[in-house]
Amino acid sequence: MAAPRDEAGMSAYLSNETRKWQERAREVANRLVRPLAAKYDRLQEYPWEIKEGLAAAGLTGVWIPREYGGAGGSILDLCVIVEELSKACGGVGVLFAVNALGSFPLIVGGTEEQKKRYLPLIARGEKLVAFGLSEKYAGSDAGGMRMRAIESGKHYILNGEKKWNTNGGAADLYTVFAVTDPTSRSRRISAFIVEKGTPGFKIGKVEDKMGIRCVPVVELEADDCRVPAENLLGGKAGFGFKHAMMTLDRARPGVAAQGVGLAAGALEFAQVYANRRIQFGAKISSFQMIQQMLADMAMKVEAARQLVYASAWAVETEAPDTTKMAAMAKCFATDVAMEVTANAVQIFGGYGFMRDYPIEKYMRDAKITQIYEGTNQVQRMVIARNLIKEVGQLTHLESYIPVETQRGVNPEDLVAAEAVGQSS
Ligand code: CAA
Repeated sequence: MAAPRDEAGMSAYLSNETRKWQERAREVANRLVRPLAAKYDRLQEYPWEIKEGLAAAGLTGVWIPREYGGAGGSILDLCVIVEELSKACGGVGVLFAVNALGSFPLIVGGTEEQKKRYLPLIARGEKLVAFGLSEKYAGSDAGGMRMRAIESGKHYILNGEKKWNTNGGAADLYTVFAVTDPTSRSRRISAFIVEKGTPGFKIGKVEDKMGIRCVPVVELEADDCRVPAENLLGGKAGFGFKHAMMTLDRARPGVAAQGVGLAAGALEFAQVYANRRIQFGAKISSFQMIQQMLADMAMKVEAARQLVYASAWAVETEAPDTTKMAAMAKCFATDVAMEVTANAVQIFGGYGFMRDYPIEKYMRDAKITQIYEGTNQVQRMVIARNLIKEVGQLTHLESYIPVETQRGVNPEDLVAAEAVGQSS
């Protein structure tokens, strides 16, 4: 039966087109990614053979519009691919998705010339991209960054450092955010497309990580790095923070999909193991305690998956609650990933703790998904801020809530005092 594709059905069913992407990604994941996952985790090296396989399967440009050489797929297409890859290896899931993160600033804010120049190369998998926002002293508080960019003739001179740059070293292109106007509050930051090999642009410390070990995470250094003015994103200074936030709105469903993939992959292993492992003369899958664990894991995976689909749909349709939906999906699905992968290790028991078995890697890979692209504490803050904004649409409920009175206190004064407190 053909899957319906309409506004109502989108959150529950995938279109035929999306299913094709899903099947293609599943095939690559099972043929190429799963057999190599443990090797590259141990080596902590970039798996170039897997990257070539992803490009050969035509997966690298799915999120890039057709007019710039991509497949013109949707955010949902991107998410189902990330889920399938992450089911086999969380590192490969991000290795793939980080190129979307790095190229979204170009898509949302680049000039026509910049898009034409870079996006087709990314779509063909010829150039890898990284996203340089965080710094040692500016993680959650991304706006507090210090990397400086000063205009000088036909160039901008960049000085400073970036931290936790995923894909750094492997990538050919870097979307780097820097302060162009320290005196401005809302137009302080601009984004630049920095090509590998630009004089003064260096890869610094290469991190030794708990999980996603096949993808490099590095520090970036700009030391009088001369970036051509034509590489200022969008050709106008001061829009970097906005473009970073818009990028994260588009990218967070992908991190959520990574969480779903990790959780679903770990659940499948737990199902197989529980049905094979005999204790007390019976398969442990026949014990109610294990059954409850498996059932809870499955419910949470499916709920997270539906939230990924719903958030991808919100991004695609530019729904007014996109930011909230993306944050909810990212937060929920990656919390599910942590819980489900830890429970899968528990079901494997002593074997789950050992590196001979594939399951402990899922738990290690899952941890970072609660941290990067905005910690889950930041996601909850974003969700709550949006919930508070939505109160403006709920005035019809006001009359149902009694206002208490107390002698000597005017309730309106309390509301006014709270407003002053919030704005200070
Ligand atoms: N879309 C468009 N504009 C937005 C926006 C959005 N979703 N969110 C905020 N903005 C705009 C605001 O409208 C505001 O604009 P004006 O100044 O013109 O009014 C401006 O941005 C500042 O907004 P806030 O006051 O809300 O900003 P804030 O300083 O309070 O920070 C934050 C908000 C949500 C905490 C943000 O700093 C944030 O998301 N932090 C987390 C950073 C993050 O996710 N880092 C991830 C790094 S990438 C990574 O991890 C990748 C990897 O390794 C794979």
